[in-house]
Amino acid sequence: MEKIQKDITILAIESSCDETAAAVVKNGRTVLSNVISSQIDLHTLYGGVVPEIASRKHIENVDGVVTEALHQANMTLDEIDAIAVTYGPGLVGALLVGLSHAKALAYATGKPLIGIHHIEGHICANYIQNKDLEPPFMALVVSGGHSHLVLVSEYGKYEILGKTRDDAAGEAYDKVARVIGMGYPGGPKIDAAAKKGNPDAVTFPKIFLENDSYDFSFSGLKSAVLNYVNKQKMMGIDIVPEDIAASFQKSVIEVLVAKTIKAAKDYQVSKIALAGGVASNSALRDEMRKACEKEGFYLSIPAPILCTDNAAMIGCAAYYEYSSGITHGLELNAVPNLILGQR
Ligand code: KG4
Ligand code: ZN
Repeated sequence: MEKIQKDITILAIESSCDETAAAVVKNGRTVLSNVISSQIDLHTLYGGVVPEIASRKHIENVDGVVTEALHQANMTLDEIDAIAVTYGPGLVGALLVGLSHAKALAYATGKPLIGIHHIEGHICANYIQNKDLEPPFMALVVSGGHSHLVLVSEYGKYEILGKTRDDAAGEAYDKVARVIGMGYPGGPKIDAAAKKGNPDAVTFPKIFLENDSYDFSFSGLKSAVLNYVNKQKMMGIDIVPEDIAASFQKSVIEVLVAKTIKAAKDYQVSKIALAGGVASNSALRDEMRKACEKEGFYLSIPAPILCTDNAAMIGCAAYYEYSSGITHGLELNAVPNLILGQR
């Protein structure tokens, strides 16, 4: 007789930065609900995420978001197999809200608790998008807090080959946007403005670092934009924000694409995956697609809603952790600087 495997349905919570999110995910790849309550409008008033406000908003939102995720999935808490939650890295106060809520649910129901690394979640968004994707592959993780090149050799196994030595890619987008008067969050605004600008209008540096390095550095580029803008202002010349956006973006993307392709070649993997908020950037998606077509790599890119912070990606990651026997006790604490691959 054929063996009948039971479905594993996980309720996941994500609150590491400025989105309060909850999702229900079946067998890692089927999203039954994906509820995201964004605080972006609130933080826009201050030009960036204010940690205390983020924590307070998470407290107000978390219960409603979880209830809504169960409701949209048409499931009760009883029918859930495990509770997953991001426990790092991120803002400690923000992480603690989601973690405490998840622990309370796990305690009250007696269901297993699974703590997930936020970046692992971002990478796993690719499994939701592309149901056939399996390791090994090279992942470029570019978000507001991280820029990592990660070799995913098998499920749950991550080797960080390179990371940013200063600013994350998304951070550079956000800071440059502020300098050219576009406000927070800068990524989507620069993305849109760059479409109307000339990428060759200004030559900004492309920072590749040492030949064999997979690390990134974006602070020099950010300073170059700042210097350019100040110089233009001193000379009484009006800046063209669209041209600066397009030229800045060209420098960022050329480095991201070249290093990812090099890493995939060096480590002899045939697949590349993008992850993190900056992976929703239209120019990065286009350029990476072109490079992968040219070099013969399979490319996985999650839909934009799965690139920025969400809980479905946490539910997916949790499925693979849970399947390999990993759960956590109620003593699990938030780890703001949690390293990928550490438990
Ligand atoms: O992954 P994410 O939602 O949160 C973190 O874990 O940090 O990433 C947020 C970052 C922000 O810096 C935002 O400006 C950037 O992703 N971002 C973008 C785009 N959409 C969001 N950057 C470039 N182009 C975009 N379309
Ligand atoms: Zn994120």
